Amino acid sequence: MKILGIDIGGSGIKGAPVETETGQMLAPRLRLPTPPSARPEPMIDIVTTIAQNFQWTGPIGCGFPGVVRNGVTLSAANVSKKWVGYHTAEIIAEKTGCPTCVVNDADAAGLAEVTFGSGKDRRGVVLVVTIGTGLGTSLFIDGRLLPNAELGHIEIGGEDAESRASDAARKREKLSWKKWGGRFNRYLNTLCKLHSPDLIILGGGISSKYDKFGRYLDVPTELVLATLLNEAGIVGAALACGACLANNDAAQPALNRLQEKKR
Ligand code: BGC
Repeated sequence: MKILGIDIGGSGIKGAPVETETGQMLAPRLRLPTPPSARPEPMIDIVTTIAQNFQWTGPIGCGFPGVVRNGVTLSAANVSKKWVGYHTAEIIAEKTGCPTCVVNDADAAGLAEVTFGSGKDRRGVVLVVTIGTGLGTSLFIDGRLLPNAELGHIEIGGEDAESRASDAARKREKLSWKKWGGRFNRYLNTLCKLHSPDLIILGGGISSKYDKFGRYLDVPTELVLATLLNEAGIVGAALACGACLANNDAAQPALNRLQEKKR
């Protein structure tokens, strides 16, 4: 099925049509910068522009950098707090006229990795960590997602893990790779104590610099890099939307109501 995948982020909003059977993007992605206010209205205007750019009339799957339940965004660590309680899926559906499903961005990226990437056909507990402005996490058991894990915000040493071990923290504090690698290693080891994953997949922009920090990581489980990299968020958002459509998921009202209308 062809679905427009959109990855809503704090610095950019990216989208491309995706064939969900294969995970292939059907056109080069379009990336537009996130407006500085990072508020819902101007960001949703950009989502609409992306849909118009692809002359899209079909379903849209969006990844969002916060907790998402029933299409409503419930947290906003790195975007405007105006997103909290916002009926994001409903509003995108209204503005674009397309059935819309919204999920957490790390859940989307993880879904892409367990379906087509490094976690394909892996059973047991798979933990995906995306490292960027935020620390995104998604948890899978035998390929099934536990949504909104939000393990980027666990407290370590009395501090929010993301504020110390994200890529933004590395840049903000001008940390050496050794120093940041040490922090990130502590973070991963804490996650291992909590969830004993059978596999950890590292994604997000910084994973392409693994040669600089990989040597500082020592975890008691298998650790691999994501394979879809930049595309995971877009592909995974489309996959999440496809899964909701297939299951007629009552938790995504903005998807189903418009689908009903189109029938
Ligand atoms: C948010 C998560 C998100 C991650 C990556 C965190 O700050 O709380 O929901 O997945 O950033 O964007």
